[in-house]
Amino acid sequence: MEYILAPSILSADFKNLGSEMKKTEEEGARYLHFDVMDGMFVPNISFGIPVLASIQGATGQVMDVHLMIREPIRYVEDFRKAGADIITIHLEACQDVHATLRAVREAGLRAGLSICPETDVEKLAPYLREIDMALIMSVHPGFGGQSFLPGTLEKIRRTREMAQEQGLDLDIQVDGGISMSNIRQVLDAGANVIVVGSGVFKGDAKENTKALMEIVKSYE
Ligand code: DX5
Ligand code: ZN
Repeated sequence: MEYILAPSILSADFKNLGSEMKKTEEEGARYLHFDVMDGMFVPNISFGIPVLASIQGATGQVMDVHLMIREPIRYVEDFRKAGADIITIHLEACQDVHATLRAVREAGLRAGLSICPETDVEKLAPYLREIDMALIMSVHPGFGGQSFLPGTLEKIRRTREMAQEQGLDLDIQVDGGISMSNIRQVLDAGANVIVVGSGVFKGDAKENTKALMEIVKSYE
């Protein structure tokens, strides 16, 4: 099992995005988490395809695209062309979750499936064989800088248990409100891909990444 830090650029200083990203890469963050919001599935609008395309090639990090948009099946091909390596969709946002996951894999990408805090974790069970990563949201999606919802820990444990029951070596990602003070708890619960936004980019991205990476690496 690989343990990975995925800094979310949602909280970055966009006028210095290139150099901010670079700091996280230099300190060992293997993924870069890219939060796309449509103002429909979530009550906020962030950034999308042209921004992803413009950072393509500027980093060797895996582009981990989290689509908080309705019916993401419409945009799989566009995000692939713009440089996505992983596309995570929301279970709550798709009419046909199986077809959407299939479209992601048929595009040659890794498929992630996410659930919001109010969604029952058991709903992931029918899809575990069709995904590379489950994303357990630990805040209500839409904004960076919110507080971690403690009920998440039990959902992470249960997801790891369901994956093991099915003999799957699944990546489990957790996203929202993670900082130096609770990152160990999510790792201990069974998550191995950790998204951190404000905890990386508010303040010194280099120092923050370094400190978080020390903890993440200690789990390898
Ligand atoms: C929330 C996003 C998160 C967010 C995390 O909707 O999916 O990726 O950027 O930010 P923090 O770590 O500040 O909660
Ligand atoms: Zn996210």
